[in-house]
Amino acid sequence: MSTLATDLDLPVVPLFGNESRAQRHSVMREVAKESWLARTDAGYAVVTYDAVTKVLRDKRWHSATGLVAEMAGVRDERYLARRRVNILNAEGDVHVRLRRLVAPAFSPRSADRLRPFMREVVAGLVGPHLASGRIEAVADLCEPYPIPVICELLGAPKDDWQLFSRLATDVLRVFGGNLAEEIGIVVAAGIELEEYTKGLIAERRSRPADDLITDLIAAEEEGDRLTTDELTMMVEAVIVGGTDTTRNQLGLALELFSRHPDQWSMLRDDPMLAPRAVEETMRYHGAVAGTIRFASEDIEVDGVLFPKGTFMSTSMSTANFDESVFVDPMRFDIGREPAGQPQLSFGSGIHYCLGASLARAELQEALVVLSQSMPNLRPDGEVRHKPSAVGIFGPSHLPLAFDPA
Ligand code: HEM
Repeated sequence: MSTLATDLDLPVVPLFGNESRAQRHSVMREVAKESWLARTDAGYAVVTYDAVTKVLRDKRWHSATGLVAEMAGVRDERYLARRRVNILNAEGDVHVRLRRLVAPAFSPRSADRLRPFMREVVAGLVGPHLASGRIEAVADLCEPYPIPVICELLGAPKDDWQLFSRLATDVLRVFGGNLAEEIGIVVAAGIELEEYTKGLIAERRSRPADDLITDLIAAEEEGDRLTTDELTMMVEAVIVGGTDTTRNQLGLALELFSRHPDQWSMLRDDPMLAPRAVEETMRYHGAVAGTIRFASEDIEVDGVLFPKGTFMSTSMSTANFDESVFVDPMRFDIGREPAGQPQLSFGSGIHYCLGASLARAELQEALVVLSQSMPNLRPDGEVRHKPSAVGIFGPSHLPLAFDPA
């Protein structure tokens, strides 16, 4: 016998309110000690590790990331007319086919090829600040870092760095919580990005090179290939999914380390700890705190029935503090024994982050170079953060000091 979700007396958690991220996290973590399910202002939220992974791995829960605009009440016809299936909101056979075709281009080995370049980029960014021992990490390091890496990956010209960065930021305003006002910017950036991407693809069709676009053009399995529209969508997904995420995650990592000098010294003394440092910073403070799903049919989870259409948030940031998986979760410790199960900030199930190997490589290389070149890292003034509503979160101003070279 299952109970209808609407009949349950559930704790309520804030998702879209004005409270700070820290306040929201602390409410959600308290709730998760008592209940795996909570009610939100837009439906329900799963908050324990077990429940979050159950929902994300159940293919009947479909991605609601394509519905954000409607949920925010956006009626802009230009926006609605331009919406298409992309890998993040595709489901079923459409999604399986896309993943199968593009997965080889995103393997750990492909990401590893870029590691020397990543080190060069970070060293070039931090270099001018070593003598002063002071840096504003957002503008000087985090914002610029992922762009040349994505350009190098795609084979885009270096002169396009700034354009890339702006387009990615503007397209991602769709998750920014201020959509009604910013929809015009989102639409304009979407049109510009599509034209730009089509140009890149046309160029690579006539002149193949050793890069991701050429790999995607050539991607083939049993005679199946990506169409030009699918190729455009994939390249856009890399530009949009691969920039703001990584730069915010690096900012959160540096903020954390500046408040935990012992952990920074540990990493400096033993750079082999970098992979664990990345997993622990992502567990402790992930740039993507959660994602959204809707029930494509009536679904029962642990005796609770969610009718078709039910909206569900999956709080990875709460699951990452689940005591049944992570020992003493409030402790930030890059030396902790790996738990039996992974941190969830890259998601789980069929939509698990396609760029995870690349993001891991970028963060690992950055943390190694920075821990070697910025000893005794510490806060150097007030830290400011992006608005805390849904979407990608990180510092907007992060002044740091360290011992000068
Ligand atoms: C630290 C950095 C990153 C974080 C925290 C992150 C997080 C995530 C999460 C949570 C999802 C799943 C969303 C869902 O289930 O609704 C996802 C999917 C995705 N990510 Fe990332 N990501 C990062 C970096 C990247 C990079 C570098 C790329 C591109 C090279 C990328 C491309 C994608 C794509 C294409 C998807 C959709 C996959 C699918 O639906 O099959 N991400 N990411």
